[in-house]
Amino acid sequence: MVLLTGYNRVRTAVFISGTGSNFKSLLKFSKNKISPISINLIISNNPKAKGLNYAKKFKIQKKVLNFKNKILSEKKLLFLLKKNNIEMICLAGFMKILSKNFIKKFKGKILNIHPSLLPKYKGLNTHKRALNNKEKYSGCTVHFVNSRLDSGKIILQKKIKISKNETETSLAKKILVQEHKLYPKAILKVLNL
Ligand code: GRF
Repeated sequence: MVLLTGYNRVRTAVFISGTGSNFKSLLKFSKNKISPISINLIISNNPKAKGLNYAKKFKIQKKVLNFKNKILSEKKLLFLLKKNNIEMICLAGFMKILSKNFIKKFKGKILNIHPSLLPKYKGLNTHKRALNNKEKYSGCTVHFVNSRLDSGKIILQKKIKISKNETETSLAKKILVQEHKLYPKAILKVLNL
């Protein structure tokens, strides 16, 4: 996917549902003088998502869409994305599943980060399942989004070792640190930089 036009930054929307630590790290990345992206829109399905506070702090346009009526929410979403000339979407802890129709409209331009070494442990409770299966390694993956959950083409992965006394919490924490580094790297890769 080559989106860079001249010296313009790729206009990016980030979708969140909760803490937004990946959003924060992407924001930091976008603020770098030579960053290829700008974050112009933040979407949340959850009005209480902590990450929304960063939107306020950095004066980024935000919109909460509850997704109770997915067709309607996605219609509003498409309007907003178009209005803001959004060229790339980064899902960062976004807990709603986008429709096939929506994904088709942004084909090859939606990225997601997942806390496992895909194709292992798609979906929820990844750390719990990795520990129950006595895995020696886990990690995180940035991938393109297609119509099947956590199944799109892998862009980058980071592998980490699971320690002897690892708990779900310690593993999640360890992986999250790596997620914050991996997402910007994956974006650079996608943009051929
Ligand atoms: C991350 O572990 C991400 O991989 C998963 O949800 C979590 C979101 O964390 N999809 P945060 O909201 O970015 O802090």
